[in-house]
Amino acid sequence: MKLLNKTIYLPTIVIVSIFFLMGNPALAENCVQERKTPQAPQDIYKQANPKGTPEDIAAGEQLYAKGAKPLACVQCHGVTGKGDGKMAMGMKPKPRDFSCQAMMKDIPDGQLFWVIKNGSKGTGMMGFKTLSDDRIWQVVSYIRKFSN
Ligand code: HEC
Repeated sequence: MKLLNKTIYLPTIVIVSIFFLMGNPALAENCVQERKTPQAPQDIYKQANPKGTPEDIAAGEQLYAKGAKPLACVQCHGVTGKGDGKMAMGMKPKPRDFSCQAMMKDIPDGQLFWVIKNGSKGTGMMGFKTLSDDRIWQVVSYIRKFSN
């Protein structure tokens, strides 16, 4: 009887705990990173993304995964956008976690655009002067997908 109880209760407790953790907004927000990134000038900060068609997103994905020079975004920001790419190890501050909805919802498109273009001084985030503005907007469209 004791054994039977254990085999029933243990999985139940595990399953209930998993549902509790998934549904707990306080825990979900733990992905929010400490962010000291300078803010884009107001006119760029407020600019809406002019791109966003499925073709733009596909072009953005290509740049993210391998096209962007000198280094593809995936090397640092990772395949799922979590900021856990191969080169991210030991990096301080860490690459932005694009999958973190709680944080990304407060960072406007214009800000993402500006940092991709100019980099974030004193961090691993370099500016991508090799990308045209249109290309940068396409990448912005793609990285939004990690949290949408
Ligand atoms: C060598 C590593 C590295 C590469 C390559 C890299 N990033 Fe980053 N990225 C970082 C780091 C580190 C930060 C965090 C900077 C900070 O905290 O200010 C960051 C931050 C960002 C941000 C956050 C902006 C903000 O205001 O919070 C965006 C957007 C971004 N990267 C986009 C990209 C895109 C798009 C590419 C490819 C075109 C790319 N990154 C390539 C390391 C990298």
